[in-house]
Amino acid sequence: MAEVIAFTNQKGGVGKTTACAAFCGGLNEAGYKVLAIDLDPQGNLSFSLGADIEDCNTMYDVFKGVCTAKEAIQCTDTCDVISANILLSGCELELTGVGREYLLREALAAVSDDYDYIIIDTPPALSVLTINAYTATNKLIIPMIAEILSLQGIAQLKETIFAVKKYYNKELEVSGILLNKYNPRLLLTKEVEELASMIADQLGTRILDTRISANVVLAEAPAHGVSIMEYAPRSKATTEFKRLIAEITGIDNGVKSPRTAKSKRGRRKKSE
Ligand SMILES: Nc1ncnc2c1ncn2[C@@H]1O[C@H](COP(=O)(O)OP(=O)(O)O)[C@@H](O)[C@H]1O
Ligand SMILES: [Mg+2]
Repeated sequence: MAEVIAFTNQKGGVGKTTACAAFCGGLNEAGYKVLAIDLDPQGNLSFSLGADIEDCNTMYDVFKGVCTAKEAIQCTDTCDVISANILLSGCELELTGVGREYLLREALAAVSDDYDYIIIDTPPALSVLTINAYTATNKLIIPMIAEILSLQGIAQLKETIFAVKKYYNKELEVSGILLNKYNPRLLLTKEVEELASMIADQLGTRILDTRISANVVLAEAPAHGVSIMEYAPRSKATTEFKRLIAEITGIDNGVKSPRTAKSKRGRRKKSE
């Protein structure tokens, strides 16, 4: 059975799609079989991974029961993908049946054994799509950027996560808050970090040790339809995302997480 990791935040522009694409690329490079699920009607993840969004089966067709998950899978250079387009935005009104929160989980159960990881990108909203993502997921990662406005609306996010955990998916775990476009030299960053730390406490989670710096290659990669690992393999962004993947999954992909590095230094000091 695949481990399912979803990236969520009802704010747009915080790096959900960027992180999803990087995870797909990094896990693929480490030799794992990955399925990417695009749950955003904007189809940004599909585009970033070079998948079709027109004239093909998409997540909308899967939700509507027109096809199975297997029938909607496309193979790209980075990983397998079930893409999304604007039709998906109709789901909020069109999916009215009992058990609509479980549709994604059920659809993925049929293909889960074919993959090591399933990576889900979510829309900038707390909708039936988001609830389907939370219900189908083992681990949630919440990307944020170091701006005060990016921290607004977290109470609502917390309520949704806690409700899904209570009613639909007891296994749901918030792995942590991911600080994106991180610049430790800015005073504002420190203030936002303190606030983010309080939010993490409320969510029963932590700020992830790995932070992602602002880096133009992350904005460039999607236009080439390949992940950052392929587009800029030697960039700082690639190293940071590999470190993040190691922190979340425990995969040894040749980079040390800051925490491991720190504790090793600490141990050496003690024995000296
Ligand atoms: N660390 C980063 N450095 C530079 N640009 C970034 C970074 N993270 C995201 N971006 C850019 O910011 C924009 C929003 O990111 P995106 O991943 O689409 O956010 P979301 O999916 O949360 O809406 C995109 O243009 C993306 O390329
Ligand atoms: Mg997005």
